[in-house]
Amino acid sequence: MKKIIVTATALVATAAFALTGCSAERGGDTGSGSGEEAAGFAADSSIGVALPDKTSENWVLAGKLFTDGLEEAGFKADVQYAPASNTVAEQQNQIQAMVTNGAKVIIIGAKDGKQLATQVQAAKDAGAYVIAYDRLIENTEAVDYYVAFDNFKVGELQGQALLDGLEARAGHEAPYNIELFSGSPDDANSKVFFDGAMSVLQDKIDDGTLNVVSGQTEIAQTATEGWLPENAQNRMDTLLTSSYSGDTVVDGVLSPNDTLARAIITSVQQAGKPVPVVTGQDSEVESVKSIMEGVQYSTINKDTTLLVEQAIKMVGQLQAGDTVDVNDEESYDNGAKIVPAYLLDPVIVTKENAAEAYANVPSLLEIVESYQ
Ligand code: BGC
Repeated sequence: MKKIIVTATALVATAAFALTGCSAERGGDTGSGSGEEAAGFAADSSIGVALPDKTSENWVLAGKLFTDGLEEAGFKADVQYAPASNTVAEQQNQIQAMVTNGAKVIIIGAKDGKQLATQVQAAKDAGAYVIAYDRLIENTEAVDYYVAFDNFKVGELQGQALLDGLEARAGHEAPYNIELFSGSPDDANSKVFFDGAMSVLQDKIDDGTLNVVSGQTEIAQTATEGWLPENAQNRMDTLLTSSYSGDTVVDGVLSPNDTLARAIITSVQQAGKPVPVVTGQDSEVESVKSIMEGVQYSTINKDTTLLVEQAIKMVGQLQAGDTVDVNDEESYDNGAKIVPAYLLDPVIVTKENAAEAYANVPSLLEIVESYQ
């Protein structure tokens, strides 16, 4: 028995040595070279970061934070954005190139989480780890970890903010006229945000507190292709014409993020109607200003700095051969496996709590304070 264990240990050591040798061949520093079989890969390895098109400020910021943070941690950072056109195919090519170039970890903010199975499998086959960042990658076993803000909770907070905002601002008792918007159907988050919001709103729709005047309550009817503001604005224009003629007022709109919230508000303003209670997400600069001016009602603080830090921490743990921190091993079934996740806590932000909510985000705190 003892002999078998020894043999097995020797095998593990040999495998680890082979792996280390492999990175040395690619010109990597093998670290101390003392045969520490725990080490996952060389400390100066290349780490790929494939981000989607820049549909909100958080993606713009993430790229810079990944480049700086990974370099600071001693890695080579290969950060790529998918361009706005031909986005899915371009992102597939970028990930494939990262695999070919020997990236040891590939962090992916998916454009379309259902269309990356081939590329992430290629990464696995090449011995790289795959981390889904912010958006889940679906229908493949080749995703090792998921790091994101708790998406369902984001939706719950948005649903609750809509209810609270209506009570505070509609200027009349229920029933309240509302409309619902969701994100892009190719982003796995969109359904989770919507389900979270509906977990709060559905009962109130059923008991008549909320009246979705258009009758459009199915996610497919509420979707915003590509997360594009012009699509949300067009849909809102159409809803106003078809369901809010004459004196009929829309009291509230569930918007899944800030970019779309501002487009929805523009549509209502252009129609000459009073601005409804509109939710959001991402704490974009223009929306924080709008909230402080009493126009947009709420947003969500998902501090990108913290999310990028957590992703880089995972890379460090993989590099060192340590256990990777996860705090949720049941919520994110991607259709092929439950992906172990590290979920951060989103925070609701309204005018009332903005100073407190952004206490650790100096750039936003400064904006809030300029209104006080
Ligand atoms: C992110 C949101 C963002 C949206 C559009 C989602 O996957 O979680 O924060 O607003 O994409 O970019």
